[in-house]
Amino acid sequence: MIFFDKDTLQFQLNTKSFSYVMQVRDGFLLHLYWGEKLSQGDHSYFFREQGRAAFSPRLEGCRGFILDDVPLEYPCWGRGDLRTPALEIENTDGSNIVDLRYVSHTVQAGKPGIPGLPAVYVENENECETLVIRLQDAYSKVTAELYYCVMADYDILTRYTRIINEGEGSVQIRRAMSASFDFDKAEFDILSNYGTHCRERQIERHALKHGRFILSSRRGASSHVHNPFMILTSPETSETAGDVFATVLVYSGNFVAEAAPGQFDSTRAMIGLNPEEFSWKLNPGEDFYTPEAVQTYSSTGLETMSHNFHTLFRTRLARGIYRDARRPVLLNSWEACYFGFDEERLKKIGTCCGDLGIELLVIDDGWFGKRDSDNCSLGDWVVDKRKLPNGIEGIYNHLKPLGIDLGIWFEPEMVSPDSDLYRNHPDWCLDIADIPRSEGRNQLILDLSRKEVCDYLYDSLAAVLGTGMIAYVKWDFNRNMTEVGNPNVPADQKREITHRYYLGLYSLLERLVTDFPKVLFESCSGGGGRFDAGLLYYMPQVWTSDNSDAIERLRIQHGTSLVYPLSAMSAHVSASPNHQTEHVTPFMTRFNVALTGSFGYELDPTQLSDEEKQLVLATGNTFKSYGEAVSKGTYYRLRDPHGGDHAAWCVVSEDRSLCIATFVLTHVRMYGRNERFCLRGLKPDAVYVDKNSGAEYRGDQLMNFGLHVPLALEFSSLQWILEEKA
Ligand code: GLA
Repeated sequence: MIFFDKDTLQFQLNTKSFSYVMQVRDGFLLHLYWGEKLSQGDHSYFFREQGRAAFSPRLEGCRGFILDDVPLEYPCWGRGDLRTPALEIENTDGSNIVDLRYVSHTVQAGKPGIPGLPAVYVENENECETLVIRLQDAYSKVTAELYYCVMADYDILTRYTRIINEGEGSVQIRRAMSASFDFDKAEFDILSNYGTHCRERQIERHALKHGRFILSSRRGASSHVHNPFMILTSPETSETAGDVFATVLVYSGNFVAEAAPGQFDSTRAMIGLNPEEFSWKLNPGEDFYTPEAVQTYSSTGLETMSHNFHTLFRTRLARGIYRDARRPVLLNSWEACYFGFDEERLKKIGTCCGDLGIELLVIDDGWFGKRDSDNCSLGDWVVDKRKLPNGIEGIYNHLKPLGIDLGIWFEPEMVSPDSDLYRNHPDWCLDIADIPRSEGRNQLILDLSRKEVCDYLYDSLAAVLGTGMIAYVKWDFNRNMTEVGNPNVPADQKREITHRYYLGLYSLLERLVTDFPKVLFESCSGGGGRFDAGLLYYMPQVWTSDNSDAIERLRIQHGTSLVYPLSAMSAHVSASPNHQTEHVTPFMTRFNVALTGSFGYELDPTQLSDEEKQLVLATGNTFKSYGEAVSKGTYYRLRDPHGGDHAAWCVVSEDRSLCIATFVLTHVRMYGRNERFCLRGLKPDAVYVDKNSGAEYRGDQLMNFGLHVPLALEFSSLQWILEEKA
């Protein structure tokens, strides 16, 4: 996996399908290659000394090259490279020069964890080899250790940086990227997810132009707006062909991902903590770890890229018993009752769930404090006896004989000004003294960078989870950060608070998932406002969007699938007309779309007609039979819902003996063409039987001619369950 040639000072990192090559020249760590796999050898000639100066100074003592014109692995600010740096340090004397040169390196088997941060893991040492390259500034003794973790079989390279102050005075880290990428060309398309609340992760693609293209969040969360990844492709790249260079940040707070074609038509891209809302004081002897960046390369289009990330995130980022187990079919009380429930209503819903084969009932917002609306009680995680006179136990005891588990909603990171917690600890929220605080949804954010706050939250949640009655937790986060501060933190450390907040959140989550290993945790942030790889390390599924409309979900789930696996996407059948859009959609379309994720319902089952109840029973059984194969299967995007009038996809089981294919008609056009669509990922010679019609097709027919789509009604859909003939 990792080769070092001591004569040419070259590092070659090989996965199953790609290579990544670096070389030390004049002490600088240069980037030579990232692309299709190369045989091991001397690639020195890849480096071309062009000597283009264009006003860029030449470094004294460095005869070889103009720094501004060479591909660098971890560029720093202050010497001859005038492009955007990966690292910027304010030295003890206030200067901001840092000049990292190669010192040494080590190679070790396995993959170390990153202290305090979520990271991809391995189950045995053979799955990964780790290279650590040590670079140092000779004057300030600021040191950077670049970690390269090669997971060959997964076609994954992960990277992060440890910065150590080996000097004698304190320095400030102003900017520390997790990974930087220099390419020797400028012709790229860039793909991103953009969106907002209820319209998350739409796909946008365009050509990269001169200038800096930045995707970022400064909102105190990875956010609904952009997602922390960077995908660069060749202009002609499609789902199934062409180059893709992709990297995802394992982090939930402020991030930046940028790409900038420069003056010589090379491109520098990078990903890491957003420096606009960050700096970090590093005292002598201290170190700092950046979050991890996970990168993959594909020469066969976006599909392979997605498959690489899906497999890795599902099996080597998500943890706990639900990583591999089928998730329960759940019903969430939010769109069923909002705040308007009591014990009697929940019991009725519970009984109905029992009749319908639903396995878990989630009591969403409204069970604690005096919460009849969103204007109070966050922080007071104690049952509201007005609504639930017999406590959680009253509901639990009703559900248990029905074989239904109980789940509950928390929004631990928040506090309502009208709450006992706030009255007792008005100083526990993010706060800049003397400046009025902004409320979002009538709430303030607790300062999780403080240990006493995290301890309080641990104790509050543990008191509920410790009863053993709770099988599932929905962990919400319903506003972004403003007035980020803490009057007790010195001025030169104020910009550490957001990152320290996330270190606090991660350590709180680590304690909870360790101490309550049987609980299924689902993260949420007004739907998908923190759908990121950082939280997937603690919670294997995410409420994908507050928009539960099946038609709107097509784009949201399609966009989410660029990077994240189906097992991470919670998708529920909601009522029709839909509560957000008022779309009226057939039950089967709502089911067919929800089947692609971690499945459940977002409606009042007592209000369903007899016919709908039969459908719930039948489709619930479909999920129970096939849900696990879907969540572990390989997902193929067949028709892009951004295209206009339809969407289609299929999921193929790991052994390729099962394929579930879905087509949804979103817009009817008069006298439309004879629609058919081709599947992917099947065994060409195998015969597949359509479970519903009994029709038989060969894999090569399904992949090359496809299936006819006899659909005529708007929002109608078809789903084919195709099983290999024994
Ligand atoms: C957020 C969530 C919803 C629901 C409400 C409750 O908006 O995304 O699913 O839990 O909070 O207040």
